[in-house]
Amino acid sequence: MKRSILYLSFFVVTLCGCMFFSSFTPGKVLMSEKNDTLKIVVPKGWPKPVYDFEKNPVTTNGFELGRKLFFDPLLSKDSTISCASCHLQFTNFTHVDHALSHGIYGKKGTRNTLAIINTAWSKNFMWDGGINNIEVQPLGPIENPVEMDTKLVDIIAKLNRSKNYKTKFKNAFGSEAEITGQFVLKALAQYMVSIQSYNSKYDKVMRKEPGVAFNEYEAKGLVLFRKNCASCHTEPLFTNNSFENNGLRPDSLLRDAGRATITRLKTDSLKFKVPSLRNIEVSYPYMHDGRFRNLQMVVFHYAHDISKSPTLSPKLTNGVNLNEQDKNNIIAFLKTLTDEEFLHNAKLYYTKD
Ligand code: HEC
Ligand code: HEC
Repeated sequence: MKRSILYLSFFVVTLCGCMFFSSFTPGKVLMSEKNDTLKIVVPKGWPKPVYDFEKNPVTTNGFELGRKLFFDPLLSKDSTISCASCHLQFTNFTHVDHALSHGIYGKKGTRNTLAIINTAWSKNFMWDGGINNIEVQPLGPIENPVEMDTKLVDIIAKLNRSKNYKTKFKNAFGSEAEITGQFVLKALAQYMVSIQSYNSKYDKVMRKEPGVAFNEYEAKGLVLFRKNCASCHTEPLFTNNSFENNGLRPDSLLRDAGRATITRLKTDSLKFKVPSLRNIEVSYPYMHDGRFRNLQMVVFHYAHDISKSPTLSPKLTNGVNLNEQDKNNIIAFLKTLTDEEFLHNAKLYYTKD
């Protein structure tokens, strides 16, 4: 019963979205009927997706090929590391418990793995926003010597040795389709833009679903969150899609300048992508270098340890005034952003062909 209400409400939501955003029509099925539990929808109140679905329409075959590639260690030089090695679904597609990601030959990266979530709404990728299109993003990890350390041409050669892959590329992109770099990237993009999370307790309360309500602490936490955090972690995506300096002490070891490494502007020094906070409970440790092990440490940072510097966001120059109970309430609220249906959605997980 509850489930049918949920489906009905998605139908209505999608329909409204359709009338509102004519270029994003659910009538044009982005996932085929057979796979209807994974339909890409624009939940009520969400903005129009940034990703252009017209240019690379998501199909069941394309999505399944992308998923297979995402989980295939063949994409690394010695066939040991897949995208999923660092992006684990049950921890919000992050490398849980690793402050800095670990890649090929056990090598350590320089940043904490970012979640892959609601990427159809992301304008920029990576902590420094160095990539603005998800269809080229995989080239970063594929060619990074401490991640997968290979080249797209080498991957194509390996894929071409597999009859199974040859068939799958034709099924996804047409009977004439050969295995090309462009199709590898398009398939990966189809999978990644389908990774959507919008069924947390927070979402259910916002949708006024029967039988779901915030407790006293969560409700107070939401008020505090809206006052102190939402200017950057803006609902409903919990990011304003920008780059900010949130007052972390500069790391003397990694010396990561963030956005400035891309723009070369002094004014962008120490600014990093504002990450979404959806499923934040499970994607520890936190920040671009994974410096905080838990949410208590994160909230302590905002309440007591904002480091002043010329690029510190003006939103934080006066600090954040939170007492002990406030801090606990904010954490209680953050935990309502955990979406168990998403974290355990079997459709996103590759098992076999
Ligand atoms: C060795 C671990 C590792 C592997 C393997 C890896 N990633 Fe990542 N991924 C990361 C890290 C670390 C970041 C953040 C990097 C940065 O900001 O410089 C990231 C960032 C991303 C992002 C950006 C998310 C956002 O919202 O900005 C996407 C998308 C992504 N990876 C997809 C992939 C794909 C696709 C593959 C496989 C082709 C892959 N990753 C392989 C560690 C990894
Ligand atoms: C001025 C903008 C801004 C404000 C206000 C802000 N944040 Fe952030 N937040 C950021 C940025 C930027 C990052 C990433 C910083 C980094 O890693 O260098 C971040 C990171 C985080 C993270 C870690 C996310 C991850 O995936 O590692 C959490 C949790 C968080 N913020 C919670 C909060 C809470 C709770 C508040 C309110 C008390 C808040 N933020 C207020 C900009 C902001």
